[in-house]
Amino acid sequence: MFKQLKILDEKNKLLRQTSKDVELPLSKKDKETIAKIIKQLTYSQIEELSEKYDLRPGMGLAFPQLGQLKRIIVIVHEYEEGKFKEYVVVNPKIISHSEEIIALETGEGCLSVNRDVEGHVPRFARVTISGYDPDGNKLNIRAREELSFDFQHEIYHLNGILFYDKINKKKPFYSENEISLI
Ligand code: NI
Repeated sequence: MFKQLKILDEKNKLLRQTSKDVELPLSKKDKETIAKIIKQLTYSQIEELSEKYDLRPGMGLAFPQLGQLKRIIVIVHEYEEGKFKEYVVVNPKIISHSEEIIALETGEGCLSVNRDVEGHVPRFARVTISGYDPDGNKLNIRAREELSFDFQHEIYHLNGILFYDKINKKKPFYSENEISLI
C-alpha cells in the first residue's frame, strides 16, 4: 500500500517559520516519516511509478513541508540512471562553501510550489554539510552541483525561505558571463 504524503502548499504560513533543532536519536515516529518520504521521493523519480501514483517528481523534502517544524531534511539523489542515494540529515548546517556561485539553467522547483516560477536561483557550487543521521551519528557531506543545490534548497526550508525568494526580481536571468549555468 502506498499513500501519498500531504505536502503543504506555499501559501501555508508554517513554511515561513524557522524550524527547531531536534533531539537525537530520532523517535520511531520521525524515522517512519523519513521512510515514507524516501519512498515517495524515489517513486516520484521513476516514471512508471510517478504516473501510477500521480506524483510530482522531486528530489528533496524538509520536515516543515509536512507541517512539522523540525530540522530534518531528506534527499533522494539519482546519481546514475535508475540508481538512487538517500541522504537524511538532522540539524544540518552548511559549514563551508565555494566562492563560486552557479545556478540551474532551468530554474528550480519545489513540492510546495504548485506552479512554475521562472528565474535563476544563485547557489554555491559546492557545500560541506554537517549534521547527524537519525541515530545521532555525526555526518559530514560534501556536495557539488545539483546535489549541492538541493542541500541548500532544503536547508533554507528550515529557515522559512523558499527558492524563489533568491531570484533577483529585477533581473531573474543571468548570462553565462555572470555566473555558470548548469
Ligand atoms: Ni522545496
